[in-house]
Amino acid sequence: MLVLALSGSPRRGGNTEILLDEALDAARAAGAETQKIVLSDLQYSSCRACGACESTGICIQKDDMQEIYERIGAADAMIFSSPIYFYAVSGWSKSAIDRAQALWARKYRLKDPRYTGEKKGYCIFVGATRGARLFDGARLTMKYYYDAAGFVPTGDVAVNGIDEKGDIRLHPEYMEAARRLGAAAATGETMLPE
Ligand SMILES: Cc1cc2nc3c(=O)[nH]c(=O)nc-3n(C[C@H](O)[C@H](O)[C@H](O)COP(=O)(O)O)c2cc1C
Repeated sequence: MLVLALSGSPRRGGNTEILLDEALDAARAAGAETQKIVLSDLQYSSCRACGACESTGICIQKDDMQEIYERIGAADAMIFSSPIYFYAVSGWSKSAIDRAQALWARKYRLKDPRYTGEKKGYCIFVGATRGARLFDGARLTMKYYYDAAGFVPTGDVAVNGIDEKGDIRLHPEYMEAARRLGAAAATGETMLPE
């Protein structure tokens, strides 16, 4: 079982990355192999809407996203973590998500079996405020991203009210929720609420 993690926060050691690391630790403890990619370490651009991928499944932009496409195809499960920025995922996350148009083409146009399955996809979100709809945008975006890449959204840990770097550690209940998410990813289970 290979669990691929994409970290969408540019703040290294921040709240979502702490939760992601906890989830991956639990996934390894449950027997999975894990790969973690910090998106802000990569060089990639946003989708240019050139349309080339729609018939070929190949993005014309020869940057670090090419490697991510292959890793997503090889993964058995995914965890995507992002802070909430302006009631949505971060820009690093969204640019990577828009580049998944090439995966959408591989799935729906080319029927590439690496992307047509129903693998399990999990999310981790952290935001500072407590708005009732704080996670609506991110959840909808991730639903369609995962669909394009061959995953079914299977559960998330979504934490509000956390702003300062590292403050998530003050909340063992969220750290534990991340561990449950990681263990679920390792076994392909649907995450059960507490
Ligand atoms: C550019 C930017 C936009 C943000 N927008 C929101 C927002 O719309 N709603 C919110 O609750 N928090 C917002 N935040 C706060 C972050 O979601 C919060 O600090 C979170 O803990 C960051 O997670 P990280 O440490 O993993 O990066 C924003 C932060 C930044 C830097």
